[in-house]
Amino acid sequence: MATSPKKSPYSHRHLLGIEGLSVQEISYLLEKSDEYVGQNRRADKKNDTLHGRTIINLFFEDSTRTRTSFELAGKRLSADVINMSVGSSSVNKGETLIDTASTLNAMHPDVLVVRAGLSGAVQLLAEKVNCAVINAGDGSHEHPTQALLDALTIQRRRGKLQGLKIAICGDILHSRVARSNIYLLVTMGAQVRLVAPMTLLPSGAENWGVEVFHDMKAGLKNCDIVMMLRLQNERMQGNYFPSIREYFHFFGLDYEKLSVAKPDALIMHPGPANRGVEIDSEVADDYSRSVIREQVEMGVAVRMACLDILSHNLQREMQEAAK
Ligand code: NCD
Repeated sequence: MATSPKKSPYSHRHLLGIEGLSVQEISYLLEKSDEYVGQNRRADKKNDTLHGRTIINLFFEDSTRTRTSFELAGKRLSADVINMSVGSSSVNKGETLIDTASTLNAMHPDVLVVRAGLSGAVQLLAEKVNCAVINAGDGSHEHPTQALLDALTIQRRRGKLQGLKIAICGDILHSRVARSNIYLLVTMGAQVRLVAPMTLLPSGAENWGVEVFHDMKAGLKNCDIVMMLRLQNERMQGNYFPSIREYFHFFGLDYEKLSVAKPDALIMHPGPANRGVEIDSEVADDYSRSVIREQVEMGVAVRMACLDILSHNLQREMQEAAK
């Protein structure tokens, strides 16, 4: 009889968000991810951990980095990976999402990686399938693997997360990256600051265990990490700021505003970056400070770890159910 894979410190079937995860769970996901960084730097980048498993990338919203890195992650673990991009015109219909999910479910995938435009849609879908589900971004709700890759990038550069002063700047209101990062960094003991115009901050943000600023220089003072966010124009209805020019003037990261952060403060951005809107082009390309490329590299390792852990959890669940 096959022996069950050992119970892992992350024992959930899905990864739908960072909210509610414990320090131990987050640390375990980061440890596992760190192990994959080495494998990805070798000439032979493949192992057969997920040989015979099927992963479906189901994207109802555009993506370059996230989709590619999930695909690469699955392939490096020897899984069969299928990509499905669903036209954005049908995205907003609940039935379409559930229909697609149950069709795919009938094909016995092991993991569904899902990106959807509606907050909560990935959770809904997870309730309708038998496989593991990873949230690759749902509306402005959560993007857990992005927060994990950001944390891994910081941890490898600074050796810790606890106690670091981390400023998350820009369109917090519409950003799933911000939400997942706030949950993760606050749980791990970082001092999180949010810097944004009043119009781009959700009400009640000051109750999230963070400090809130409306002025970049005040918010960036003595920071270890400056994380910039893209203006999520596709999620905006109405005007949130007078003009791009004015937004850049007050909230765009340039050397002048950066000068108040720690001299070795790292600059991060989940991408895609809008140069001249939330970040000055020169600053984004200053690789003595910017770790944007490293974030992309860590993304593959994090996604490998998540696919590995969830596939093995599912296998254990199935073996236990068969007993
Ligand atoms: C982010 C996303 O899709 O939420 N991008 C990403 O996953 N690399 C951030 C963004 O689109 O601004």
